[in-house]
Amino acid sequence: MPTVDEFTREQQDRLLEELNDLLRIPSVSTDPNHARDCRTASEWVADHLKELGCTSVELKASDTHPVVVADGPVQPGKPTVLVYGHYDVQPPDPLDLWESPPFEPTVRDGNLYARGATDDKGQVFSIIKAFEAVSQGGSPPVNVRFLIEGQEESGSGILFGLLEREPELVDVDVALVADTPYYAPGWPAVETGLRGLCYAEITVRTLKGDLHSGLYGGVAPNAHETLVQILSQLKSPKGRIKIPGLYEAVARPSKQERDAWASLPFKQQNFMRHEVGSRELTGLTRYSVFERLWALPTLDIHGISGGFTGEGAKTVIPAVASAKVSLRLVPNQKEKTVQRQLKRAVKAVAPKYADVSVDFIHGADPVLVDATGPYMTLLDDAFREIEGRGIVPIRSGGSIPIVPALGQKGAPVILSGIGLPDDGLHAPNEKIAIDQFLKGVRVFGRFFQKM
Ligand code: BES
Ligand code: MN
Ligand code: MN
Repeated sequence: MPTVDEFTREQQDRLLEELNDLLRIPSVSTDPNHARDCRTASEWVADHLKELGCTSVELKASDTHPVVVADGPVQPGKPTVLVYGHYDVQPPDPLDLWESPPFEPTVRDGNLYARGATDDKGQVFSIIKAFEAVSQGGSPPVNVRFLIEGQEESGSGILFGLLEREPELVDVDVALVADTPYYAPGWPAVETGLRGLCYAEITVRTLKGDLHSGLYGGVAPNAHETLVQILSQLKSPKGRIKIPGLYEAVARPSKQERDAWASLPFKQQNFMRHEVGSRELTGLTRYSVFERLWALPTLDIHGISGGFTGEGAKTVIPAVASAKVSLRLVPNQKEKTVQRQLKRAVKAVAPKYADVSVDFIHGADPVLVDATGPYMTLLDDAFREIEGRGIVPIRSGGSIPIVPALGQKGAPVILSGIGLPDDGLHAPNEKIAIDQFLKGVRVFGRFFQKM
């Protein structure tokens, strides 16, 4: 039987071809027009896991965005590792900024470009291929259960329902999630915390219908103006979110954790210029950048619509305007509580003449996970072997809604992926470094063997 390293070296062209097949499926879960494609991606993953010797491969809980549940061959007496990932992706737009089409995977300079290349098809596929590498001869060294969903990018509602009905699915020894990046090239990481999310649409109506701005301007309430005034009262120019009660539940990270972050190699100027691409970093500047990214809540406006934005000019007073906004939440905030706080804050600053509604689209609770324990040590060993450096504990500002539920039966959850910080997730020209993908196959393969 070839070693994991030999397998990866000898088979790499085939592994990448297979990944390309998965990347070609435009499984955008946030867009109902792509429901059929999400189904296709789930079937692709299920068929693939069957070919690799998984028994009881099932598509569960939905016709359009099913959860793929698959168990590897049963290995009595061996621990069970749950592998979580998602086959759905974010919308690819703006399309004109892609150098090659988002669903036609293309290699440039050692990187594979496609929507989902790193988030999360490429990363979860590296674990699937690691499972194949250690299953040569039909008998993997551990019990593996795959739980691969198609709704992560839209809140994981279907998987939450499934785990409520079948909690035994997460009755495992350890859960492994490769959906977060390295700290930096050469620096594998384990995430000890993720932020949560509260995503909302705020809609303002001020008139029965649009009006001529010459005939009525000066007396008619303008929906856009009203919306902008409301939004501007939700955050101070210095970055403090002005939603009453919002900061009450926020737990400051321990001195030890803050000290550990302060000792990470980090060049703020570099980060600002090259990763963020701005002339200044904003927010609550008396806290460190890491604390602002990982341990403080945010409020962002994603887009504002309504009124006239077409070619040329149109003199109109808009009757309706709306904004998509979201808050990132940190331990120990709760999505449900923050929904109430946001709604109350918006209503409190809305003028009486306006009808204002706040509708919630999706979200997630924040989570902290313990980054110690025997399985963590094994993964650390595997990274040392292949990367020459062990994992550094960090947090991340992103969200993975299902993570708290993966640990609901007490299994430690390991958040450790192989993407790089500049992979461009959710952005045009998302990529995975081919070298990172192959390292993932080797690291996770060695992890399974060490278990
Ligand atoms: N994989 C990301 C989350 C992530 C990325 C965590 C990088 C840590 C580091 C995930 O696919 C994602 O994008 N989640 C959404 C969740 C939301 C749509 C409910 C997010 O964070 O916006
Ligand atoms: Mn992801
Ligand atoms: Mn994502």
